[in-house]
Amino acid sequence: MGILEGRVALVTGAGRGIGAAVARLLAAEGAAVVVSDLGVALDGSGPSDQPAQQVAEEIRRAGGEALPDATDVVDFGACAALVERAVEAYGHLDVVVTAAGILRDRMLFNLSEADWDAVVAVHLKGTFNVARHAAVWWRAQRNPEGHYRLVTFTSGSGLHGAPGQPNYAAAKMGIVGFTFSCANALGRYGVTANAVAPAAATRMTESIPAERRRGGPGADDRSPERIAPLVCYLASTRSDWLTGQVLSARGTQIGLYAVPQVTRQVTWAGELDLEGIFSALERSFRPAVAGAQASRAAELAAQAGAAGQPVGTSDAKE
Ligand SMILES: NC(=O)c1ccc[n+]([C@@H]2O[C@H](COP(=O)([O-])OP(=O)(O)OC[C@H]3O[C@@H](n4cnc5c(N)ncnc54)[C@H](O)[C@@H]3O)[C@@H](O)[C@H]2O)c1
Repeated sequence: MGILEGRVALVTGAGRGIGAAVARLLAAEGAAVVVSDLGVALDGSGPSDQPAQQVAEEIRRAGGEALPDATDVVDFGACAALVERAVEAYGHLDVVVTAAGILRDRMLFNLSEADWDAVVAVHLKGTFNVARHAAVWWRAQRNPEGHYRLVTFTSGSGLHGAPGQPNYAAAKMGIVGFTFSCANALGRYGVTANAVAPAAATRMTESIPAERRRGGPGADDRSPERIAPLVCYLASTRSDWLTGQVLSARGTQIGLYAVPQVTRQVTWAGELDLEGIFSALERSFRPAVAGAQASRAAELAAQAGAAGQPVGTSDAKE
């Protein structure tokens, strides 16, 4: 018996890439899965119901339970209908995974208003739209032991600030704040909320030069299937203890990010002494910033050579 037997999951962006891999594993572990995907090109154009149909069929052929759907996550009303459809079809809704996404990469000075709006709409509003309607249903159950799950998708692009993706980076960090808020608001209704920062070879990463991809050139384990076990764990009833976190998944590595916190503080006493304040900032913060930058550079260098390391745990950040 699978770990998700009897559970119902709704996965957006499930027609391709990471979402499809997640949908397949959740179904293989016994969940009934609503495979939702608008079937668009990488820039969000040209919808098609085919990708969702194909993944749902594949799941059914393998003996699983799946329902295809082609909802546009940008449409608030359509997302209400999507949640209703899941509940109508399977009687309840336990897990929501929001993996739908598009890219319109530009440097800030070349970024149009339309490209900003489209990317923020699909990622940030799209995550809100589905989560919001699911949250209404979860709250109505009045079941603190419901084991309900929200799994959102963020990105290293936002967490580390990819220079050529200001729209995407902003939307993905918006999702982090949104997920923290959901974790704090919905815990009493039996919901956990966590964000996953994945790295996998999909059409989204095709435009990144091999040497700049996380995992580095020659990393042979960048399959989207590698992201699915973490999402499966988060979807299961075992993960009740885990909420309000950002987790990374890349190849055979799963990481836990530190939740932002104040690490140093200077205090100035009433009088406006600019020179005193500025000097205190430089004395206290500057070494910390330099140290963080050096350790981030070392981490990136280690990642570039990390492919193929044996399984194990460590206290390293990723
Ligand atoms: N691949 C990576 O390395 C990587 C890294 C960081 C974050 N992510 C995030 O992981 C998630 C999955 O990415 P992927 O690499 O599998 O991408 P992908 O392009 O392979 O799949 C994304 C899917 O989302 C669907 N979609 C787009 N707009 C939609 C809309 N308005 N409504 C419904 N569906 C829509 C697309 O049709 C597509 O099938 C995304 O949120 C992405 O930002 C991926």
